[in-house]
Amino acid sequence: MNEEKIPSTDPVSADAGARAEAPATTEKPSRRESISRPLPDDALIIVPVRNVVLFPGMVFPLTVGRERSRAAAQEAVRLQRPLGVLLQSKPEVEEPGPDDLHWVGTTATVLRYITAPDGSHHAICKGMKRFRILQFLEGFPFAVARVQLIDDPEAVDADIEGRAHSLKERAIEILQLLPQVPEEMVAALQAVEGPARLADFIAGLMDIGPEEKQALLETFDLKTRLDKLLELLTHRIEVLKVSREIDARTRESIDDTNRKHLLREQMRTIQKELGEGDEGAAEIAELEKAIAEAKMPEEVEKHARKELKRLERMPEAAGEYSMVRTYLEWLIELPWAAEAEAPIDIAEARRILDEDHYGLEKIKRRILEYLAVRKLNPSGKSPILCFVGPPGVGKTSLGQSIARATGRKFARVSLGGVHDEAEIRGHRRTYIGALPGNIIQNLRKVGTRNCVMMLDEVDKLGAGGFHGDPASALLEVLDPEQNSTFRDNYLAVPFDLSSVMFICTGNVLDTIPGPLRDRMEIIQLPGYTAQEKLQIARRYLVPRQLAATGLSADRCEITDEALRTIIDDYTREAGVRNLEREIGNVFRNVAVRIAEGSTARVTIGPDDLPAILGARKFEAEVAMRSAVPGVATGLAWTPVGGDILFVESARMPGAGKLILTGQLGEVMKESAQAALSLVKARSRDLGIAPDLLEKSDIHIHVPAGATPKDGPSAGVAMFVSLASLLTGRPVRSDVAMTGEISLRGLVLPIGGVKEKVLAALRAGIATVMLPARNQRDLDEIPADAREKLKLVWVEQVDQALATALSPVAAPAAMPAA
Ligand SMILES: Nc1ncnc2c1ncn2[C@@H]1O[C@H](COP(=O)(O)OP(=O)(O)OP(=O)(O)O)[C@@H](O)[C@H]1O
Ligand SMILES: [Mg+2]
Repeated sequence: MNEEKIPSTDPVSADAGARAEAPATTEKPSRRESISRPLPDDALIIVPVRNVVLFPGMVFPLTVGRERSRAAAQEAVRLQRPLGVLLQSKPEVEEPGPDDLHWVGTTATVLRYITAPDGSHHAICKGMKRFRILQFLEGFPFAVARVQLIDDPEAVDADIEGRAHSLKERAIEILQLLPQVPEEMVAALQAVEGPARLADFIAGLMDIGPEEKQALLETFDLKTRLDKLLELLTHRIEVLKVSREIDARTRESIDDTNRKHLLREQMRTIQKELGEGDEGAAEIAELEKAIAEAKMPEEVEKHARKELKRLERMPEAAGEYSMVRTYLEWLIELPWAAEAEAPIDIAEARRILDEDHYGLEKIKRRILEYLAVRKLNPSGKSPILCFVGPPGVGKTSLGQSIARATGRKFARVSLGGVHDEAEIRGHRRTYIGALPGNIIQNLRKVGTRNCVMMLDEVDKLGAGGFHGDPASALLEVLDPEQNSTFRDNYLAVPFDLSSVMFICTGNVLDTIPGPLRDRMEIIQLPGYTAQEKLQIARRYLVPRQLAATGLSADRCEITDEALRTIIDDYTREAGVRNLEREIGNVFRNVAVRIAEGSTARVTIGPDDLPAILGARKFEAEVAMRSAVPGVATGLAWTPVGGDILFVESARMPGAGKLILTGQLGEVMKESAQAALSLVKARSRDLGIAPDLLEKSDIHIHVPAGATPKDGPSAGVAMFVSLASLLTGRPVRSDVAMTGEISLRGLVLPIGGVKEKVLAALRAGIATVMLPARNQRDLDEIPADAREKLKLVWVEQVDQALATALSPVAAPAAMPAA
């Protein structure tokens, strides 16, 4: 090499004169000197490059495109002198002068000079040493400068050694993180000798911009340079790791199934290699173990083992394989074991029932009797309880309480709309996608046979048809004579249901299939009075909703008056579900106000409700609607408790026709006709003009029009409505009535007295007219209702008129005062 001719920072300098002339300085000297050829010994031919920083030790094919650079490279080759490679600080400049170049670069030996077939010139350079420009010389066809060589220290201390060591480790780590790195790369890195070479080697490889590389080149102090590199590498590793993780995660989600398949294949190959049995042997072994532990009855276990044998012989790829495996999993996971039933503590059960439910005395007593019998005779065939009543009266929650009181788990099966026997009893395994029925499914879910299983909505069980009769399947489930060997179509082996405690619920009795009803003990929950609702709200719903909204009782209070207003004016229901919802609405509103900090403590009174819940929903309905002659308030029994209903009549010019609308059933239509006949017969007594009826059509409508209605019990209301219309005397708005009528004007008894009376109370009625012959049902009516309502027992329709019609004839279509 010819580098010796060039001055160096190393203690030894070849040319002291040059040094004296141009002292080493990091500042760019501005003075230029013009010299003539030949090239002085201590000068270096400079090649400016764009975008590449050559580091000592690095071999790099330099493309020399520019005329001056070609001349420079060729002259260097001819003179066997090194080149000085400098990065342009302004890459865009075509003929860079001293100000367009960085003043620190690397000397390079040109290993080969190639002219490619396409005419381009390349100099394969090897980086040798750092240098710094001292002075550019003029008068050459290319850049020439006097420079100072920068040597790296020869002696290496522990500080540097340590840094170099971790630098190498990190570099290897990076290479391993990068995809598609040739293996030789790691070997090359391992082979680099000395910290300075290592640093330059890595710096040359780094994926950073030329300016950053230049900065590394200009960092003469080795320790600082190593530190900078370490920092860069560490950061790079983090980035690579994160991106690889993301990459892996994406790939995983895309072909997780493929991967699993691949892994399974590999596992099998490995197992084969190890001589650990053939395909799927591990899986078979696992299933075998699970069968042994499942505590199946002998017969079932034998059957399961037979299936397992079949599975063993099947190729795993066969579609049937997974079907048989799924089947075995079902068998394995069912709660076959008969656990000892926890003894029932009747006193504790009583306490739990009281804790969960207000009132319902008769019902709780009946439940306790039922539990007592079970306790005394656990193996006896106890009847199935069936709770019947309107929504929200606590049927489901009573079932949950029974589970709690007996220490059993609770499962719920909804039978509403079940048309297909298979939903209860399962599909045969020959069906594609066959599964057990919902009884067995729920047993697997709760994991024990000693559970309370609530069969909800037995009254909405679909009728039997093409797909078999679900009711008869249910019979088999509930019948104590048969259910110890219940056979689900899918399982095809008997399962003992006798220790399951079944409880049914429904809203109405009539639609429960007869044979089912016969097997059950019906317990009716008719609904609550306003007084009972207030107690339930106070004791259960308010604390529960407070807790649900995260409020405490000392921050939010609701007065009894407010609760009563919600009960009377914002809900109309037999149960308490809407009541609970409205209470929840109130508390959420308060919670927002407290959370916003606009208040710390709130007491809700009735006057606060409209702002939160909106206008009262049911308040003035009766008074408003019955203000005109022709509207009477009747009482109806519905599956969801009682309700009030309006009978509206109107008269128009015509020829004595009777028009009936509102989806009335046959029986109801007949009572309308009977009512009209009764009014006609009394027209003289009532003071109705004799020809009025002949010249009119009468229209009777019972809203809501979309709800079908039937039954004879609206007879009295129809009669009163017509009498009111034709006499122009409005019906008193606080009177409601029920009763069938005979053509002779007798009032006949009706059913559902309790529900109807409660509905009247809810609607704000003061007087209820009932058939005299229903007095036998007086006991049924809650004391609370009896106190608040005036009950009028009528035998004759004429009595009804006396109570119901306002005494003074008001002009038609004018509101009564
Ligand atoms: N007597 C009561 N004491 C305390 N809470 C009650 C009482 N009756 C009903 N509730 C509460 O009312 C809510 C509704 O009851 P539940 O869900 O049991 O009604 P349901 O009769 O099953 O209605 P559905 O026919 O709609 O299924 C429950 O939160 C329940 O705890
Ligand atoms: Mg329910």
